[in-house]
Amino acid sequence: MYIIIKNNPDHAAIEGAEIFKYAAVKAFSSRRNFFVALSGGSTPRIMNRLLDQPPFIKEIPWKKTHIFWVDDRCVDYSDPASNYGTAKKDFIDRAPIPENHVHPMPFDPPHDKAAKAYQNEIEKSFNITEGTIPVFDLIFLGIGTDGHTASLFPETSVLDEKEKLIVSVKGGNPYVNRLTMTFPVINHAKHIVVLANGKKKAEIIKRVIIDKDPLLPAQRINPVNGKLTWILDKEAGALL
Ligand code: 6PG
Repeated sequence: MYIIIKNNPDHAAIEGAEIFKYAAVKAFSSRRNFFVALSGGSTPRIMNRLLDQPPFIKEIPWKKTHIFWVDDRCVDYSDPASNYGTAKKDFIDRAPIPENHVHPMPFDPPHDKAAKAYQNEIEKSFNITEGTIPVFDLIFLGIGTDGHTASLFPETSVLDEKEKLIVSVKGGNPYVNRLTMTFPVINHAKHIVVLANGKKKAEIIKRVIIDKDPLLPAQRINPVNGKLTWILDKEAGALL
């Protein structure tokens, strides 16, 4: 596990964008598509807004990039609570990425069916059959002050999901229906990056990294073969 502590959220965002670019170029140089999954919430927005700016707009091989979501709220894409809708405004609308390489989560009920449909979309993109776990090049996560990550909230049964790649849940803030990746997908990524900023995250980050509190969902972020990097600003990393 790597812990990178930056002076401020802007510098932390640049670090995240550099990792995005590096992973994309690495996949491209091996003549492979680059598969990345983004989280929502407020933290990743500074990074996302860098991706349609130089140097990233030019140096990321967008034509070989596929963007998925780790989780999303089951709301219309125009709703400010939509993680996809927010990312679309923050950079996707201006990045030269093929439209069919952007994979928003469906939001219409029934949500279990939507979860299955998204799992099928992932399997089709990775050209894998049901039962195979896709290996994303890069997955960005956040962490809530309750220790949740993605939309995997404390004391919920989905924390133990071993088969499904995508499940539907209800929870979080806003308290709505959501689709979320499960830990088998997350932990099979080649590189998992957790982004967190601000003093309100310092305690939960200490409880995960130092105390290793088993009750916290973020404690289950544990790459099978890949790498885990925490990118924190000084405030979020203050108790480490
Ligand atoms: C979501 C996110 C969620 C987020 C954390 C941190 O859809 O809500 O994926 O897991 O990463 O809640 O959110 P902030 O960055 O807003 O603190």
